[in-house]
Amino acid sequence: MTSGSDWQTRVGRAWADEWRRTDRSFAGLTGHLLATIADQPGTRVLDIGCGAGELTLAVASARPEASVVGVDVSGDLIATAQARGECRAVFHHGDAGQFVDPAGKPDLLISRHGVMFFADPPAVFRHLAGSAAPGARLVFSCFRDPAENPWAGLFAPLFAPAPPEPAPPEPAPSEPVLAFPPGPFAFADPAHVERCLTGWCDIRFTPVDFRYVAGAGEDPVADAVGFFSRIGPAAARLAATDPAERGDVQANMAAILQDHLRDGEVAFPAAAWIVTALSDEGTRANPLV
Ligand SMILES: C[S@@+](CC[C@H](N)C(=O)[O-])C[C@H]1O[C@@H](n2cnc3c(N)ncnc32)[C@H](O)[C@@H]1O
Repeated sequence: MTSGSDWQTRVGRAWADEWRRTDRSFAGLTGHLLATIADQPGTRVLDIGCGAGELTLAVASARPEASVVGVDVSGDLIATAQARGECRAVFHHGDAGQFVDPAGKPDLLISRHGVMFFADPPAVFRHLAGSAAPGARLVFSCFRDPAENPWAGLFAPLFAPAPPEPAPPEPAPSEPVLAFPPGPFAFADPAHVERCLTGWCDIRFTPVDFRYVAGAGEDPVADAVGFFSRIGPAAARLAATDPAERGDVQANMAAILQDHLRDGEVAFPAAAWIVTALSDEGTRANPLV
């Protein structure tokens, strides 16, 4: 599980430090996402969970006439996006579940893997639909099943099984029962995503496969060890490991990664959905502004 408070602290700081390598890992996906976004109308674009802003900046460059805004709950990542200073996109520090763009209602909402971490996804998507322009479009990417993303379980044999997560409190009768806690694979199941997209209709899923590049450069294996020591499922486990034992764990990580070194890169097959939807004006429960 990766919660909003993780993103506001440890995980957000790691992603801010590692933005060049996280952008590299998603590079094979970004082109697919930009092609889907290019097919959609929109002059006020909101990038949800924009992180260090690569998608925001790319869309701002592709749509010089559009207003392009990114919002993210991590102050470290928003500061990183602002410091890139590459173009006129505007970045706001805030929670997507409460954010209302003071400059106007977005008509195109986008995200690269920024929508799987909400504690209450139906409430957030209802808010996003309610604060968007009538007929707004939604385009986002998210990972498919971990079984189709082998990098995610790569280092599991190196760590003792994670302690079971505390059972969530019993939901009140009116609250949605969330089968998947917030995290990178929370939106792997299309039926679950459809249940989460309150306020949106015409929901479509396109599977996209890409190369997840974890290591490159002079020493691709060392580069990949450095990357996975900060980003992804092994990072939290490594941080919790006795410092005296971390070097041994990282040596074992290097041995595993060596098997995936090809042509100067450590890379893995990765599987994502690109999800598109239309705001459903008829079901708006939270009209704003
Ligand atoms: C996997 S990262 C993706 C970041 C960025 N979209 C990218 O492609 O590099 C997920 C992002 O969602 C953000 N996030 C998580 N929960 C959020 C929330 N409730 N509101 C806004 N952003 C959130 C995190 O801070 C993080 O930047």
